[in-house]
Amino acid sequence: MKILILNGPNLNLLGTREPEIYGNISFVTYLDQLKKRFNEVEITFQQSNHEGVLIDFLQKAEKEVDAIVLNAAAYTHTSIAIADAVSAIKTPVIEVHISNVYEREDYRKQSYIAPVAKGVIAGFGLQSYALAIQNFVNDNT
Ligand code: DQA
Repeated sequence: MKILILNGPNLNLLGTREPEIYGNISFVTYLDQLKKRFNEVEITFQQSNHEGVLIDFLQKAEKEVDAIVLNAAAYTHTSIAIADAVSAIKTPVIEVHISNVYEREDYRKQSYIAPVAKGVIAGFGLQSYALAIQNFVNDNT
């Protein structure tokens, strides 16, 4: 099984960005742990700070992977274009967030992606990604 993890803006700063909210581990370090834990899954990873580039990755991923774990970061709350891309592709997408967006500012409670995603996992720190992958693995076995 092939899974793409796609991270949006500012998530390249994980490890140093607001560590009290997002923790102090870089995503590359966490990705190594994920790959070891799910060694039966072929996990690929992309990150972009740009909305259109994220859309390009989603469209390309449809032909290349079986499932997508998407943390669109702030674009979650603003981007109809990313939501449209998720709707347009047949590949299932789980929306993830490191923080519990529901206990934060009101504008983070809105997601354009959630209605077109398979599901949403938020608030479990980096473990949110593992929970999403576990769901895809469960469905595949
Ligand atoms: C985030 C939550 C978003 O509201 C925020 O803009 C992010 C990260 C999270 O993973 O908790 O950049 O998606």
